[in-house]
Amino acid sequence: MEIHHIPVLFDEVLRFAELQEGGVAVDATTGEGGHSEGLLRHFPRCRLVCFDADEGIQQKARQRLAGYADRVQFVHTWFDEGLPRAEEWWQEKPRFILMDLGISIFHYVESGRGFSFQSEEPLDMRLSLGDSITAADVVNTWKEKDLADLLWKFGEESLSRRIARAIVSTRLKERIESAKQLADIIWEAVPPAVRHGRLHPATKSFQALRIAVNHELERLESALGKAFHVLAPGGRLAVISFHSLEDRIVKTAFREWAKECICPPEQPKCTCSRLALAKDLTRKPVVATEQESLANPPSRSAKLRVIEKLRDTREEKL
Ligand SMILES: C[S@@+](CC[C@H](N)C(=O)[O-])C[C@H]1O[C@@H](n2cnc3c(N)ncnc32)[C@H](O)[C@@H]1O
Repeated sequence: MEIHHIPVLFDEVLRFAELQEGGVAVDATTGEGGHSEGLLRHFPRCRLVCFDADEGIQQKARQRLAGYADRVQFVHTWFDEGLPRAEEWWQEKPRFILMDLGISIFHYVESGRGFSFQSEEPLDMRLSLGDSITAADVVNTWKEKDLADLLWKFGEESLSRRIARAIVSTRLKERIESAKQLADIIWEAVPPAVRHGRLHPATKSFQALRIAVNHELERLESALGKAFHVLAPGGRLAVISFHSLEDRIVKTAFREWAKECICPPEQPKCTCSRLALAKDLTRKPVVATEQESLANPPSRSAKLRVIEKLRDTREEKL
């Protein structure tokens, strides 16, 4: 049986994408094309630019969306590299940009690149195979302190030092090649009480490695500004994040754009007369309903934030 990725917060995304009159949308993380298909079906006049860093999964989206070929352009690219050129494909500024961050079920079950800690697959974790550094390179070559810092910073792993020590002592004996091998090292490294919790003890370390190998947080930070810049005034940027590190970056950028006054907080009266660049449409992030959380467990950690672009510059109020 083929397993498909179920798009999260699907109805909510469609509700925020005001494309009834047509216009261009960018699906910056197309994956298997679940959200893209929804947009194409729901808005018969919209046209799409579909990005993905992973050629393998993009092939699946191409097949799935073949019936909409006259309204879709596929581009194999990282979103931070594609977004500045988003106007090129339809000669029009996008009115909607979607980023559904992270990876898809495809990566865990089909990619063969070691995203799942139960697999004997090579410890690779690259989304784009053109990129050089793999997760195996990181665990086999980084200094113990750098490894521990990585697990702490990108995995929020409180046992980072212990795990880094175990990785380094194993690799003195043999190179760490497979995902399962690494997961077993982590399992052995953590106290027995931690082994049978809600999450597998390797979950956070795997997240940290994936983020590092694909430069996920740097790419997100840089892509948000580029998305905002290329968006048509009145257009919307919607981002679905899955962990607090991503959400913090999105929240901070959106707050900054939606801020009207930029006077120092201790100043009693506003003298800057600045206009907000955007309207924050989700001051609190939209999360999955109980029904969706039960039907699709990965949706439990999803947070959707949306802003509407008002203008390009903070020109002064009259
Ligand atoms: C959660 S999945 C998207 C699922 C999709 N919305 C659907 O409904 O099928 C995220 C996708 O984004 C891609 N991706 C992750 N980071 C990316 C980046 N910085 N640039 C481009 N694609 C990226 C991954 O390869 C993956 O296919």
